[in-house]
Amino acid sequence: MTSHLNVTTHSFTECQAQAAALAERIAEQLRAALAKRGTAVLAVSGGSTPKDFFGRLSREKLDWARVQITLVDERWVADTDERSNARLVQTTLLQHAAAAAQFIPLYTGDAAPEAGLARADARIAALPLPFDAVVLGMGDDGHTASFFPGGDHLAEALDLDNRARVLPMRAPDAGEPRITLSLSTLLETRSLYLLVTGEKKRDLLADARLGLGAARDYPVRAVLTQQRVPVVVYWCP
Ligand code: 6PG
Repeated sequence: MTSHLNVTTHSFTECQAQAAALAERIAEQLRAALAKRGTAVLAVSGGSTPKDFFGRLSREKLDWARVQITLVDERWVADTDERSNARLVQTTLLQHAAAAAQFIPLYTGDAAPEAGLARADARIAALPLPFDAVVLGMGDDGHTASFFPGGDHLAEALDLDNRARVLPMRAPDAGEPRITLSLSTLLETRSLYLLVTGEKKRDLLADARLGLGAARDYPVRAVLTQQRVPVVVYWCP
């Protein structure tokens, strides 16, 4: 384990061990939240990295019926689309024991994220925040959630004084339009994880944390340098 100010990194030699360790840790936190408050709230990322973690977490024994799960961001596509993060969560996390959890999607079925924004915002506003855990991922371009380089609402999304809970996001490398929780909303959490794989992303994270070269401008840097919530990185090759 290595620690740098606000960022602690757990490195694993096997990715299955990484997924299992994070699943156990999150399950423990959800159990503790249920014991203490009777409810638990979790926000997760989409993309390809969390699949094994979702599979493991879905088999953890806890009172899932009292757990609410939402997304840190969503691609604005139907929930039947292969690129839908909701679909990923439905098919990999809301299975087995976790099938009883309540899922709160960001996608509303409106034609564009701007049109669905108020409804998505109301869904997040209705959650009993703070989150118990937020699990972020990271792209090779240094984006996290839908904080993409060149994103049309990037500055607003990263502005910790901005009260917006959700924002639409369009960016050259984002594929489809997106919707994302704002950084200040993501930081309304009792714990914050960054699940990443591969040496390229490990190096990118180190550069972003230190503000070296091009990584100085990577959006993930805003997560690594904030001081509100400690960041725990789970890494495997
Ligand atoms: C999304 C995500 C996004 C993701 C990274 C990493 O919807 O794309 O939530 O922020 O975490 O793009 O994606 P991979 O796990 O596929 O590398």
